Amino acid sequence: MAVTRQDSKQDRGREIFLDRSTNLLCPSVLSSDLAALAASVQSLDGQLDLIHCDVMDGHYVPNLTFGPPVIAALARHTDKPLDVHLMVTNPDRLLEDYARAGALTLVVHIEVLQHAQRTLSAIRQLGCFAGISLNPSTPLESIRWLLPDLDMILLMSVNPGFSGQSFIPQVMDKIRETRRLIDDSGYPVRLQVDGGISAANAADIVRAGADMIVAGSAVFGAEDPAWAAGELRRIMRTAKARL
Ligand code: DX5
Ligand code: ZN
Repeated sequence: MAVTRQDSKQDRGREIFLDRSTNLLCPSVLSSDLAALAASVQSLDGQLDLIHCDVMDGHYVPNLTFGPPVIAALARHTDKPLDVHLMVTNPDRLLEDYARAGALTLVVHIEVLQHAQRTLSAIRQLGCFAGISLNPSTPLESIRWLLPDLDMILLMSVNPGFSGQSFIPQVMDKIRETRRLIDDSGYPVRLQVDGGISAANAADIVRAGADMIVAGSAVFGAEDPAWAAGELRRIMRTAKARL
C-alpha cells in the first residue's frame, strides 16, 4: 500500500524526477554540518534538485550515519525531494519507515539483495521511485534483467562509506555502457553517478550519459556552498546542451 505523505510536495518531486529533459543535482548531506542539517540544506539557496541522504549501517559499509527519524525531521524543513541511498545489509525491513519519513527515491545495493525484483516492487508499492546501486567493481550484467523494475540506476564512482574520496576513472566507461543499456532497453530509467564528483569532472560525467549527479564535498566543503552548487548545475546544463 502506498504511504500517504505530504502529497503536493511529493507530486512536485515526481514531476522533477520524471522530466527527462533536465539533469538533476543531488547534493549529499553527508559532507554537511550534520548538527545543523536543515540550515545546511537551506544554505544552498535553492541551488539543488534532490537532497541525497546517505544511510549507512556500520555493517555493509564501515561508516554509520542516520536513519528514518533524521530523514523525517529533515523533510519537515525543506520543500526539496529526498533521494535516499541505503548502504545497509538488510534494506527490506525498513523500506516502509523510509517511505513514511518522506523519501521520494529509495536506492538499494544490488550486492546485498536476495530477491531484487521483490525489493524493487515493494519500493514502488510504497509510492517511491525504485533505484539500484552498483559498487565500482560490480558488473553491469548483474542488473541487465532488472530494467523494467527500475526507475534509476546509481553507479558508485567510489567505494561507498565516505565523502571526499577520488573518482575512480574506470567508472567513466561503465557510465557509457549503462547509458547504452538504458537507451537500448527503451525503459525510462534515470542514471545517477555518486562519488568524487566536482566541477572538474562533472561535464565529462554528463557527456558519458549521467542525468543525475551526487556531490558531497564539492558542495558542502566549498567556501560558498550555494555558489558551488549553482556552478555544478550550470556545468551540467552546458554539458547537456552540447550532447
Ligand atoms: C559515499 C556516498 C556519497 C558521498 C559523496 O558512500 O554514497 O554520496 O557522500 O561524497 P563526495 O561527493 O564527497 O564523494
Ligand atoms: Zn550516496
